[in-house]
This record gives sequence, structure tokens and C-alpha cells, in this order.
Amino acid sequence: MAGRKLFIKTYGCQMNVYDSERMAEALAPEGYTPVETPDEADLILLNTCHIREKAAEKVYSDIGRLRPLKAGRPGLRIAVTGCVAQAEGEEILRRAPAVDLVVGPQSYHRLPALLREGGRAVATDFPAEDKFDHLPRSRARSAPAAFLTVQEGCDKFCAFCVVPYTRGAETSRPADRVLREAQDLVARGAREITLLGQNVNAYHGAGSDGADWSLARLIRALARIDGLARIRYTTSHPCDMADDLIAAHGEVDRLMPYLHLPVQSGSDRILRAMNRRHTAADYLRLVERLRAARPDLMLSSDFIVGFPGETEADFEATLALVEAVGFGMAFSFRYSPRPGTPAFERPEVPQEVADDRLQRLQALLTRQQRAAQAAMVGRELEVLFEKPGRLPGQMAGKTGYLHAVHAQAPGLAPGAIRRVRITAAGPNSLAGELVAA
Ligand code: SAH
Ligand code: SF4
Ligand code: F3S
Repeated sequence: MAGRKLFIKTYGCQMNVYDSERMAEALAPEGYTPVETPDEADLILLNTCHIREKAAEKVYSDIGRLRPLKAGRPGLRIAVTGCVAQAEGEEILRRAPAVDLVVGPQSYHRLPALLREGGRAVATDFPAEDKFDHLPRSRARSAPAAFLTVQEGCDKFCAFCVVPYTRGAETSRPADRVLREAQDLVARGAREITLLGQNVNAYHGAGSDGADWSLARLIRALARIDGLARIRYTTSHPCDMADDLIAAHGEVDRLMPYLHLPVQSGSDRILRAMNRRHTAADYLRLVERLRAARPDLMLSSDFIVGFPGETEADFEATLALVEAVGFGMAFSFRYSPRPGTPAFERPEVPQEVADDRLQRLQALLTRQQRAAQAAMVGRELEVLFEKPGRLPGQMAGKTGYLHAVHAQAPGLAPGAIRRVRITAAGPNSLAGELVAA
């Protein structure tokens, strides 16, 4: 029973990172301890992502690479979990004989029982019970910056996106459970918590008072937890940016001045074709209201270029929106047709056209990102230090704007928050020096 080794590879979004940690905790009572490489593992979990074709195909090539390992170690078991597991189910067992278990994101609390039963199995139903109620509590020390899933699933059905199918309908965890988990994380060393949800600002969890709590109300309650210095949340949909949440950005000090607010496109025609349910002007108005509440708010976003039907004029509208907003950071992707989504069958923009647009967009976004980093030089900012840096005596952490910072801080413990004067901006991080208290 004891002494079994568990290797987890995590693909995709932050919720998968959170889920991987929960799965490791669920398997600890079974005698599994995490290891850093697959070579000596008794159990390998591939916690997968289905968002783009490349992500999903990578899983199969990784399984291919594990096959010889399995041939040499008959006791080794391989499980595919996460969104590819949910989307492809049985197909994975057919296509990859090395795989023993296929477990969807809503069923991972069943992993210990499935492993005990032995054999090959698929668990991809959306069970009525809440997986979070079936997971053991961790006693391990938390990282200074922790994740906490509060909402899962999506009812938005953007025409390009697999998430409503892989994660299911929107559900919110009850507020008291979230508060308890947050208190527990803080007791175990967390100073910052990022609330996670596929559509986190659609959160409406049952409160202990019988009322439905909004995300803003949850954030205000979290802000009263002693020792919790920083709160963030991600990812949000523009249509669910409620008035009380916008107000919270101006009123709750512990809510960090950084918001990831995907817009996808700046063209109303394309936004409509994507079923995004808002216009470019709606988005700009929203940004204006957020900045009125919190003038130093740093915005980041996601973009898709080459969505079916996108013309040069549509693309230029995206560039214009980026110019108008000024993002601190952004992710941009070439459209990837996903089976089962409404846009799958639509005629595609030629690849070289899409690639050219992606490059132009990324050049503009990189310029904005560099400018935002350069604007930090000379400022004094609070930094949450998370881990040792690369050089002796150096510590690495993050500002409230989510910029990585490194500074000489010999002897400083992870989890410390210090004032830092930013002295230089590099491509990936800022350099700074501690300000004497
Ligand atoms: N729930 C979030 C994020 C979903 S996935 C949201 O609503 O924004 C993260 C990002 O991946 C999306 O914002 C989108 O930009 C990108 N994405 C999703 N499906 C895609 C596809 N089929 N092709 C390319 N990019 C995609
Ligand atoms: Fe996907 Fe759209 Fe839902 Fe985001 S809001 S998860 S992009 S369907
Ligand atoms: Fe990928 Fe699933 Fe997250 S598809 S982005 S792992 S919700």
C-alpha cells in the first residue's frame, strides 16, 4: 500500500492546476506521493486540455512516449483526466492501449475507487454529488499564492469553445465552503488567493443566510479573513461584470488592481458570429467604468484571430480596440476549429492570412506589455515574495499588477510582503530593491 509514486502532468488552464493538486490530495490516503519525473512512477496522471487542436493532440503524443515505460513496468498505470478525457471518453481507450483510466473533471473524486477496482474504465458522467465534498482536507503547507475554485462550467456557448461541453453547466460552490477553504489555505500559509471559475464573475453561490451571493459579496467576505492580503479572480466574461463587482474594485483594498477580461475580437460582426453577446463599444464602456472605479486597474485579455469570416476590416477593428484600451498583458491565439462546436463546419480563413494577423496583433500587444512594464520603473510597489530567485540571496515575487519581480532579499521567507522600488524592466520580469521599512 505505502510507498507508491504518483507523477502528474498538467496541461491547460489554472483550474487544471487546482484540480491536479486536489487529485494528488485524494490519492495521498492511498499511499501515493508525488514525484517530479514519470520514470519511477506507479501511477501517471495526464490532466489534459481540449481548448485547441494542438493541446489535445499533444496528449496522444505524450501517451505514445510513455508506452515503452509501461512495457518495462507492468505495474504502471496511466490515467487521462481533464477536458480531453471528458470530450473523448471511450475513444481514448480505443486509440491508446497504454491508458487504463479515463476520468472527466467532474469525476476525479472517484479516482481512488477506480484504481482499487483495477482494469480499464471510463468515468465521464456529470455526477449529482459534489466532488469537493468527497475530497480529503490537505494538511500540507500552501504556496503563498494559492488557487481556489469557486465556480465551474459555462453556459455561454461561444461558437468556438469546447468548455461548456467539457466542464458542463455553470455551478457555484456554496459561499461558506469557499470561506472555510480560504481560511484553511491562509492557516496553511497562503497570503494571496485567486478565485477560479471558467466564468467566475457569474458566481452565485448559496450563502449561509439563504441568499444567493454574488462574486462581489464573496470577495467582500474574503477580504475580512485575517492574514489574507490579496484577492484575485479569473476568468471573467464581460456580460457578467455586475455593478457591485465593478464597485468592489474601487472599495476593496485587498482586491488586486488587475483584471483578466477576455474580449476575443474588436469587430461587432465577428463578436456576433462568436456568440459573445456584447459589442466592442460595450466592452470599451465597461473598461471605462472599471477604470473610473479603480484608475490604476491593469487589464489583460484573450484574442482569437482568423475566426471564420474574419475580414481585414474586422481584424483592423481588433487592432483599434487594443489601441483604445491599452492592455498590460494578453494572450492571442489563431482560431482552432473544435469538433462539436457551432463554428466547426464554417469555412476557415486561409492559414497564412491568420498567421500574418496573429503576428501583427502580437507585435502590438507586446509593445503595450513592454510599455506597461517600463512604466513601473521608479515606482515603489508592494511585492508578495513567493520563492528564491535564480541568484544567491535573490527572491522572486509579484506586484499587485501581477508583474514578476526579483530583488536581493537574503533571508526573507516566502510569503513576506515588502515594499520594493522598481529599478529596471526586463522582457519577463522587473528588477527592484527592498525599501527600508
Ligand atoms: N472562460 C474563459 C476562457 C476560456 S479558454 C473565457 O470566457 O474567456 C481561454 C481562451 O482560449 C479563450 O478566451 C479564447 O481566447 C481561447 N480559445 C478558446 N477556444 C478556442 C479555439 N477554438 N481556438 C482558438 N482559441 C480558443
Ligand atoms: Fe468558452 Fe465562451 Fe464559456 Fe469562455 S465564456 S468558457 S470562451 S464558451
Ligand atoms: Fe483547457 Fe479544460 Fe481549462 S479545455 S483551458 S483545461 S477548462
